[in-house]
Amino acid sequence: MCKCQQLFLIHVAITVLIPTSHAEKLSRNVAKSTVESLFNIVTSEQVKRDTPFIPPLFWEKKRGMWESDVRFYFHGHEELFLMREAFKIYDDNMFATAWIASCILESFRYGNGPKPTEEAMTAAVRSIAEYHDKNVNYSNSLMTFWPQKYNATFKAWSSYPYNLHHFFDIAASTNFSAFEQFLDKIGLHDIEVIMARLLASVNGYLHAFMIPPDFDDTFVNLGLGSLLAEMKDEFPETHAQWQSQNTNVTSVFDALKKYAYRPNRMIVISML
Ligand SMILES: *[C@@H]1O[C@H](CO)[C@@H](O)[C@H](O)[C@H]1NC(C)=O
Ligand SMILES: *[C@@H]1O[C@H](CO)[C@@H](O)[C@H](O)[C@H]1NC(C)=O
Ligand SMILES: *[C@@H]1O[C@H](CO)[C@@H](O)[C@H](O)[C@H]1NC(C)=O
Ligand SMILES: *[C@@H]1O[C@H](CO)[C@@H](O)[C@H](O)[C@H]1NC(C)=O
Repeated sequence: MCKCQQLFLIHVAITVLIPTSHAEKLSRNVAKSTVESLFNIVTSEQVKRDTPFIPPLFWEKKRGMWESDVRFYFHGHEELFLMREAFKIYDDNMFATAWIASCILESFRYGNGPKPTEEAMTAAVRSIAEYHDKNVNYSNSLMTFWPQKYNATFKAWSSYPYNLHHFFDIAASTNFSAFEQFLDKIGLHDIEVIMARLLASVNGYLHAFMIPPDFDDTFVNLGLGSLLAEMKDEFPETHAQWQSQNTNVTSVFDALKKYAYRPNRMIVISML
């Protein structure tokens, strides 16, 4: 390679590579500060202490969990859009918390995201200890979306989203007819109709809440545990906490095999 070729290559390197790396660095810095502000928002929203339900404004909250909201599907013109935005019920469930904790851990592990505090991660794991199925008498990791409550009539534990029950309890004991008339008078007739329909279907909702442990919740917990196992040097206490809550992981695979969807071949064949 002659001197002038070398000089040419150096020139190319200076004109092409340097501005590129500068731009890259700049966009990496922008991405980094975006990730950092997201991280700060998300970590600040983790519940810091248990709070009781104080009707009608303050929902029951549990330390370590992340907020998840139930909204109603009001759709249509502007006022309905407004109702959908404004009206929500705070709902604790293990899926949101385990999923958000996993995302934070993964962004640190794979994406150079900020390191969460071990205290926050341990609080998250501890907050979902209540979500293991209580209907079997052995230690298990069969997870329920909502906490369970004992029903003495059925001698069984069933899912009980307490804030949704608080809401429907209040709704059941309130005479909304004056409020509905008021909505009608100020021109929000559609909302009045939807509210009346909603309140009429309370029992349907309460039934729909009684769901058993399921695949999503069970495996998001397992995913969180395996992530913590890979990161146990960095989060030893959180990992130990997860292990102490999940002493029989075999229970997951037994249930997976038992409940796996198997179309019945005999029936298919006989129908052909
Ligand atoms: C757990 O429940 C099963 C079936 O209901 C029963 O046979 C078994 O004795 C129980 N085991 C314990 C340790 O209570
Ligand atoms: C048990 O479940 C039934 C059916 O949903 C319900 O009517 C009853 O109030 C429940 N009992 C308790 C103690 O929660
Ligand atoms: C609710 O209040 C209205 C008056 O605002 C009354 O006419 C109606 O009977 C009440 N309904 C119930 C179920 O108490
Ligand atoms: C683990 O779970 C299985 C059911 O999947 C159960 O048969 C077994 O007794 C449990 N073991 C312990 C130590 O609890």
